[in-house]
Amino acid sequence: MIPLDSKKRVFSGLRPTGRMHLGNYLGAIRNWVAMQETRDCVYGVVDYHAITTPFDPDELRTDVREMVIDLLAVGVDPEKSALIIQSQLPEHTELAWILGAVTPISWLERVPTYKEKAEMHPDYLHLGLLSYPVLMAADILLYRANEVPVGEDQLPHIELTREIVRRFNHMFGDTFEEPKAFLHRDSARIMSLSDPEKKMSKSLGPDSYIALADEPDVIRKKIRKAVTDIGPANEKMSPGVGNLFRLLQLVGGEDDHASLWSDYESGSLRYVDLKDATAEAIIAFLAPIRANRQRFAADEQVLRNAVEKGRELAASMAEDTMAAVRTRLGVGQ
Ligand code: TRP
Repeated sequence: MIPLDSKKRVFSGLRPTGRMHLGNYLGAIRNWVAMQETRDCVYGVVDYHAITTPFDPDELRTDVREMVIDLLAVGVDPEKSALIIQSQLPEHTELAWILGAVTPISWLERVPTYKEKAEMHPDYLHLGLLSYPVLMAADILLYRANEVPVGEDQLPHIELTREIVRRFNHMFGDTFEEPKAFLHRDSARIMSLSDPEKKMSKSLGPDSYIALADEPDVIRKKIRKAVTDIGPANEKMSPGVGNLFRLLQLVGGEDDHASLWSDYESGSLRYVDLKDATAEAIIAFLAPIRANRQRFAADEQVLRNAVEKGRELAASMAEDTMAAVRTRLGVGQ
C-alpha cells in the first residue's frame, strides 16, 4: 500500500457546465466546506469531464472561472483545501489511461449515466463518454482519497472505482485502498422549479434552478414561475409545493415555514405567499455569497493564487502516487 497519514482524505469534483445552483450548494458543496475542518480535501473543477458532452470552448473557459469563483464564495478555502482545475494536473489523465488498461469495457457499458447520456446525445458517442467513470476513478485514486462526497446518482461510479481498485491490486500488487462514498443527506435534495419530479439541474434550463449568482429580481421571477400544483388538489402535498417548503426551511426561513405550513394544513395557504417568503429567504441567504462572488470576480490575482496553490499541493500528492504506480507497471523509468 502507498503509505497514508492518519487524517481522512477527501476528493470530490464538480463539472463546470454552467453556474453553481442552490441544489448543488445545499445538497453537496455545503458538505465540502464543512469537511475541510476535519479532513484533507482536494476539490476539483473537472473540466475534462465537462468535455464528454457537447460543449463550447469559450463557454467552458468562462464556466471554469465562474465555478472557481462560486467555490471560493461559498467558503472553499485555499488555505485549508486544495482547490484544483483538473486539466492543470496531467496526472489525472495519465492515471486514467493506466486504469483504462485494467477496466473491462463490459463494466463501463452497464454504467447507468453512460446509457442516459448516450440516449440524450446519440450523435455524440465516443470513447471519452464510455470511459468517463475511469477518469473519475483516477481523480479519486490519484489523491488516495478514502471518502468521496457525492450524490446518489454517482454511487455506481464509486462502486466501479472500488472494482477497478480490486482488479488493479490483484494484477499489480496492493497499491490502492477502496474509497467509500460519503452520501449527502437526502433531505437536502432540491428539485427543479419547473419540473419538481426531477432533481434541480442545469440541464433542465435556467428556469429550473436558482444560480448562486442570480440577481434578487431574477430569483423572485423564477420562484414566482415555479410549478406548484398541476392538477386538481388532492390529499398529498404536490412535489412542487413540497420543494418550496423544503427550500424555505433550508435557507433559514424557519419562522415563515412554520406559519405557512399551518396555513397549508388548515387549507388557507396562498401559494403566492409561500413563493414570496421563499424568494425573500433565498435572497437573504445568498446575500453574503453574492457579496463574496463580486469580491472574487473583481480580483484576478486572488483567483490565480488560489488555483496555483491548489495545483502545487495536489501535484506533490499526485506525483507520489504516479511514481508508485509507474513502478508497479514497469513504465516511466
Ligand atoms: N461525475 C461527477 C458528477 O457528475 C463529478 C466528478 C468527477 C467527481 N470526478 C469526480 C465526483 C470524483 C467525485 C469524485 O457529479
